[in-house]
Amino acid sequence: MVGKLMTALSIALCLTAASIAAEPHPPASHRIESLLARMTIEEKLGQLTQLPGGRQKAVNSRIDDALRERVRRGQVGSLLNVAGADATRALQRVAVEESRLGIPLLYALDIIHGYRTIFPVPLAMAAAFDPTVSERAARVAAVEASAAGVHWTFSPMVDVAPDPRWGRIVEGSGEDPYLGSAMAVAQVRGYQGDDLAMPGTIMATAKHFAAYGAALGGRDYDSAEISERTLNEIHLPPFHAAAAAGAGSFMAAFNTVSGLPMHANRPLLTGLLRGQWTWQGPVVSDWMGVAELIPHGVAGNGAEAAALALAAGVDIDMSSELYFTQLRAAVERDPTLLPLLDHAVRRVLAAKERLGLFDDPYRGADPAREAAVTLSAEHRAAAREAALRSIVLLKNEGGVLPIARTVRRVAVIGALADDSDSQLGSWRALGREEDVRPLLAALRERLPEGAELVHEPGASPHSDDRSGIPRAVEAARRADLVLLVVGEDFDMSGEARSRSDLSLPGAQQALADAVLDTGKPVAVVLMNGRPLVIDRLAARAPAILETWFLGVEAGPAIADVLIGRAAPGGRLPVSFPRASGALPFTYNRLPSGRPADPDITRDTVRYHDLPVTPLFPFGHGLSYTSFDYGSLAVDRASVAPGESVTISVTVRNAGRVAGDEVVQLYARDPVASVSRPVQELRGFRRIALAPGKAKRVSFTLTPAQFAIWDDGRWRIEPGEIQLMVGSSSADIRSRGAFRIAAEGEGHAPAAALATVTREETVR
Ligand code: BGC
Repeated sequence: MVGKLMTALSIALCLTAASIAAEPHPPASHRIESLLARMTIEEKLGQLTQLPGGRQKAVNSRIDDALRERVRRGQVGSLLNVAGADATRALQRVAVEESRLGIPLLYALDIIHGYRTIFPVPLAMAAAFDPTVSERAARVAAVEASAAGVHWTFSPMVDVAPDPRWGRIVEGSGEDPYLGSAMAVAQVRGYQGDDLAMPGTIMATAKHFAAYGAALGGRDYDSAEISERTLNEIHLPPFHAAAAAGAGSFMAAFNTVSGLPMHANRPLLTGLLRGQWTWQGPVVSDWMGVAELIPHGVAGNGAEAAALALAAGVDIDMSSELYFTQLRAAVERDPTLLPLLDHAVRRVLAAKERLGLFDDPYRGADPAREAAVTLSAEHRAAAREAALRSIVLLKNEGGVLPIARTVRRVAVIGALADDSDSQLGSWRALGREEDVRPLLAALRERLPEGAELVHEPGASPHSDDRSGIPRAVEAARRADLVLLVVGEDFDMSGEARSRSDLSLPGAQQALADAVLDTGKPVAVVLMNGRPLVIDRLAARAPAILETWFLGVEAGPAIADVLIGRAAPGGRLPVSFPRASGALPFTYNRLPSGRPADPDITRDTVRYHDLPVTPLFPFGHGLSYTSFDYGSLAVDRASVAPGESVTISVTVRNAGRVAGDEVVQLYARDPVASVSRPVQELRGFRRIALAPGKAKRVSFTLTPAQFAIWDDGRWRIEPGEIQLMVGSSSADIRSRGAFRIAAEGEGHAPAAALATVTREETVR
């Protein structure tokens, strides 16, 4: 046993010694170097120590005399779960006026989709297929949070999530690395603006590095058992995009990748992120992530865990305090750790410098400003717009939606219809239930004069109680139209909220069956933080509207879409499976030698007991109108690496109402040195079109966007690239192709590279 423990530690130290010379040097300034020269080891360890100043739902609750004393002694570099201009200013004063070196504190909070003005959950905003929505949401959050003294958010979560059983899918942008990269960049820009020293900005964190979304079986915290190629082509691109966009910090993930826990993963944290990608910010551990190296089985005790994490490239120890309590002795035992420690301190101080904290430690924390901007009318309006754009119409047979003006009696059935709390999602920062405008009230306000609305909860997601179903059925019988509001509540997705069965929880399926048995027209309104298995609902209900959890303006946004005041235009950022047993099932899978065939008598890559397609494919979403696509124009037949090709298509609103179309470009490399995905998203553009109007949408790409990860490099292979443009991954309207003329090399993950898109009105 002792021998084994020694081995783990010596591996850490030996890694350290061997690679110190190659350690990427963080940015250094005169101020930082002079501080570093004066710091004691305890003060250095203090900068690497992050303590909770409160709890997630009770910020500041741990700020007491003991904490203030630790700040005074320079034992704390950053705090999480603190907010509010007065509270943050008061504690900052202790740091800058009463500690020996006067180094300001860095305040962090999980601001995931809004600070007080809660926006749609990130998965919903990804469904907007419009990065400006995510950017604006992040901007609003940054304005509110910075006025409240917060400097740093643990967002965006850019984990690609191929398996919706993983509850944290709600926090990210779904299953696709290209869409995920676009959303990552948008959020980093929104939080950080052009310059982190400017007012109204906060530092972003790209998390959880890396492959956290690849958790086996969709079980949160489980291992990522993936190939190098999948790691590089699917999971890493959004991180690269965030790094290239200047994300101020990264957070290490809880999971292992190929057996190596990320908090000890020097090849990825230091070799790739800092070495190859030349990114220079601080890496923060996840909550207790350093200490978890012990149960992971790579460290025998806290000292080994701390040394391993530091050597790997984790700069800030969130909450475990192992850096503070253990690293001093480790450094004394092995002085080769000292340069690593200094580098980590440099990175923390550089982040503080980048935020302008040395020049203004209070950095916009201002009670008057806080009161003026928090949940302002302007911010609410932005949240409403985001909510509207995030809604996805999955099915609409017979034009059940929008609600016809002739409808006199509407029965709203389902407990979620009145669940304001759930609209805040799994992370809500300072969001409050009473800020939420729920669906029922908003619908009541909007229904035409004389129309009647009744609500029957019927059944809820978190209980098997069926006693309310008969009353719900009665209400349905008396109605002209039923709005059946079902799904998950906010606490069924999110961290540690993996589910093995994604069918409707509680007695909701029984409720749905009973209501559908009445034969009344039913429009389903889904509320959820992940794709659900709704095959039975989809087979019977004529209309389904996906509304996720939409934040403070959820009710008005959903109601506007239901009555047709606004048109739904969002798209699925993730496939909806037909059964939980079909997971994971992503649209961008590799072809098989025996492609799936609907004919069950043939032996192909499929389940015998399920159709070969998903229930709703990636990119799917309908409108109240329809769109015609022209043929695809490709401006050149052959493109050399370094050159670009432009693909364009004209799209016309063929219906009688205005609507938004998300024009999607997919590509495929049909013959390559390795099997390539059947489709990969390589561009999208959400356009608004009045009835009869048309726009020409163009996409400009380069061969590097098709580069293949090949043993440490991005190889561009010559040959044909097939193009598919359409309304979803399964609704391709127009095809084309070009050739990559010669071999070449890319310098970034292909999916992280943005396609330049344009739209112009066609007369
Ligand atoms: C989560 C992170 C989060 C951190 C701090 C952890 O449990 O994995 O995403 O930022 O807590 O609240």
